[in-house]
Amino acid sequence: MSGDLAPCQYGICDGSGFTIDEATNTASDCRCRPSLLAAGRARSLEARIPRKYRDVAFDRFPITAIEPRVVDAVKRFTRDINPNLDAGKGLWLVGDPGTGKTTLAMLISKAAIEAKRTTAIYSMPRLMAVLRTAIESEEGLLGLLDRLATVDLLHIDDLGAEHRTDWVLEQIYSIVNTRYEDQRSIVITTNNMPDELEAQIGARTVSRLVEMCGDPLPLFGSDQRMSFTA
Ligand SMILES: Nc1ncnc2c1ncn2[C@@H]1O[C@H](COP(=O)(O)OP(=O)(O)OP(=O)(O)O)[C@@H](O)[C@H]1O
Ligand SMILES: [Mg+2]
Ligand SMILES: [Zn+2]
Repeated sequence: MSGDLAPCQYGICDGSGFTIDEATNTASDCRCRPSLLAAGRARSLEARIPRKYRDVAFDRFPITAIEPRVVDAVKRFTRDINPNLDAGKGLWLVGDPGTGKTTLAMLISKAAIEAKRTTAIYSMPRLMAVLRTAIESEEGLLGLLDRLATVDLLHIDDLGAEHRTDWVLEQIYSIVNTRYEDQRSIVITTNNMPDELEAQIGARTVSRLVEMCGDPLPLFGSDQRMSFTA
């Protein structure tokens, strides 16, 4: 961190957000500290929320155009983000392509990050690719599995879209089951209804997801990615 600090915007401190009183050798907050902290928070959001979804908000399009019943359920979840994550409760959004599932799920991740809860966001195909790469070093794999098991919120986008092999099914089961046993939250988006998902990833995994995430929130309708041409 230090060494490349941006200068204090008020020219008071050394850029650290603290001033040191030489006489008593004590630190106190500089006037720039609140904005320094806000910038840090923004950076950590930026690091994890994909650019396309970075500015999602309940009072903004496209959320304002999505089925209110589903948006309300997501809003309630984010309002109690801490107790929900503490209880290992999750959510899942099911439906047709381009109906706002990922957009809504990002609101949950954003709330978790803003509440300073550890959060990992992966699309399922990408997660499998990352796992495959991590396998090449045992340390890398253990680190990744540990992270997947222990983050306060694991957001898996596009479950069911991964190319299935026995290895992939085993990984998905093991990630879900570990979090199930430790009561840690999962947020999922998928194009598959639970019965289709069972065929895709197995009944044992889906059964755990149902218990953790409750009934899927349905988002059906036409693909809004296409709507600008209609
Ligand atoms: N109800 C809506 N009205 C207008 N635009 C919307 C609506 N829902 C989503 N969009 C827009 O459609 C695009 C796709 O949204 P999103 O990525 O959330 O879809 P998705 O449901 O996750 O799709 P997929 O299943 O293909 O992953 C985005 O650009 C989003 O802003
Ligand atoms: Mg999506
Ligand atoms: Zn300062």
